[in-house]
Amino acid sequence: MRALTSEELRKTKPDRETFQALPRNPIAVVVDNFTSGFNVGAVFRAADAFLVGRVYLCGTTPVPPKRRIAKTSRGTERWVPWEARPDAAEVARELRAQGHQIIAVELADRSAPPWGVDYRFPVCFVVGDEMAGVSQRVLDEADAAVAIPMLGMGNSMNVASALSIVLYEASLRLRPGAEIRRLRLQKGMSLRELGEKSGVSYSTICEIERGRRHPSHKTLRRILAVLRG
Ligand SMILES: C[S@@+](CC[C@H](N)C(=O)[O-])C[C@H]1O[C@@H](n2cnc3c(N)ncnc32)[C@H](O)[C@@H]1O
Repeated sequence: MRALTSEELRKTKPDRETFQALPRNPIAVVVDNFTSGFNVGAVFRAADAFLVGRVYLCGTTPVPPKRRIAKTSRGTERWVPWEARPDAAEVARELRAQGHQIIAVELADRSAPPWGVDYRFPVCFVVGDEMAGVSQRVLDEADAAVAIPMLGMGNSMNVASALSIVLYEASLRLRPGAEIRRLRLQKGMSLRELGEKSGVSYSTICEIERGRRHPSHKTLRRILAVLRG
């Protein structure tokens, strides 16, 4: 095995016009009062990877162009639609009125783990201030909160790392069939083999992969435990 070079990776990308015409995912990210430009850049890089629809940089959050943002964004702020807004709570209210589910990415007293949230699309994830976290006014607007369990001695993760984990889990729900098929083929596993190992029937997996059936949390967890194991 060898790592692909950036030249090889670039060849897999569409040209600029084709890319800009592609539909983006029905996911918004609201940044609530960051102080670090490095974190803003890392949020852009994650948002680009998961084709986030729009990033809202709210309150005190530094906005491009800034050297610190560019250092960690690797230029992705050129591709991800974004806007600066004075108040995250106001954006959350506005998006909620447009039909978004509002999820605070926060270690809150009633947070669920990323695999335990029933995501509804379009969804809006709010990430918080590096010190104070998501503000209470925004938490009051949220339908739910999601937190990555902290198994070590640290109280919290870097905010962009936490967001990336949540975006990955949510994007699996968006097209779970395609992702299951990709992982299964990568492992060289047949439908029947995956069925036997996960305890989910062959026909159910077949229907999920074809997008004809949406898996429950429990089924998805069982299938992913085999494919990620
Ligand atoms: C460093 S944390 C905030 C610190 C935390 N409120 C405290 O007092 O220790 C900054 C942001 O990162 C995100 N974050 C960090 N760890 C997280 C985790 N385990 N699960 C979900 N979000 C997390 C949240 O959005 C949070 O608002």
